[in-house]
Amino acid sequence: MIVLRGLRKRLGARDVLAGIDLEVPRGQFVTIFGPNGAGKTTLLRILSGLMRPSGGDVYLGGARLEDDSVALRAMVGVVSHHTYLYDDLTALENLVFYGKMYGVKDAPERARRLLEEVGLSVFAHDPVRTFSRGMQQKLAIARAVIHEPEVLLADEPYTGLDRRAGEVLTGLLRRFKERGVTILMVNHDFDQGVALADRVIILAGGRVALDELVTSESLRLIRERYEELVGGKYAGVDQKQ
Ligand SMILES: Nc1ncnc2c1ncn2[C@@H]1O[C@H](COP(=O)(O)OP(=O)(O)O)[C@@H](O)[C@H]1O
Ligand SMILES: [Mg+2]
Repeated sequence: MIVLRGLRKRLGARDVLAGIDLEVPRGQFVTIFGPNGAGKTTLLRILSGLMRPSGGDVYLGGARLEDDSVALRAMVGVVSHHTYLYDDLTALENLVFYGKMYGVKDAPERARRLLEEVGLSVFAHDPVRTFSRGMQQKLAIARAVIHEPEVLLADEPYTGLDRRAGEVLTGLLRRFKERGVTILMVNHDFDQGVALADRVIILAGGRVALDELVTSESLRLIRERYEELVGGKYAGVDQKQ
């Protein structure tokens, strides 16, 4: 579903991504860990078509991203610390707006269903500016999947969510996974990160430092590498992206 070949990104004087090779089959849930500045956000931004690589190739569903970026972007849903919501529009209006932008046929109906799924039906007609951070994040997730993307890219989606909202998000991610959506999620929390993951990747120094399928046997190794490369240093820090 996603293929990266020698992906590079130079920002300023730094090779933020220094040659990433990766193949993610359809329906796989991949969690990406890595220390601050490892290039995780850069990687997701390139995959979402928001940033151009400096070198290498990106394929989505067999097509080269650069050749057909508009069509391919419609295959992708993005959740990040940017909500991409309009403050003055209501929750429902925001979703209908994005639905129509993506050409979703039954946009109002789908928007209502999604509001229910993320637990915001009661607030459908309230403007987003009255929403808490957690509510906005839930709505941002609904927004990201209004067009039923085949790929979901989630950059620290749990940031700013309280425990309850976090549980709602976990339930949503689990359902997307069950529907066969390919998911790449950046997370800091080891347990949260591995909970739904089929595979864990650790980025460090712009390279893939670990790439393991999650099994009861591999979990110990993954944790050791995580602690060595990522852990401790950022515990409790609400990292800026
Ligand atoms: N516009 C830019 N110019 C120069 N360096 C940048 C720019 N944007 C990001 N960087 C650097 O790229 C590195 C990787 O950033 P990022 O992908 O956000 O890392 P992560 O999400 O893993 O914390 C960081 O060191 C950051 O400072
Ligand atoms: Mg980041």
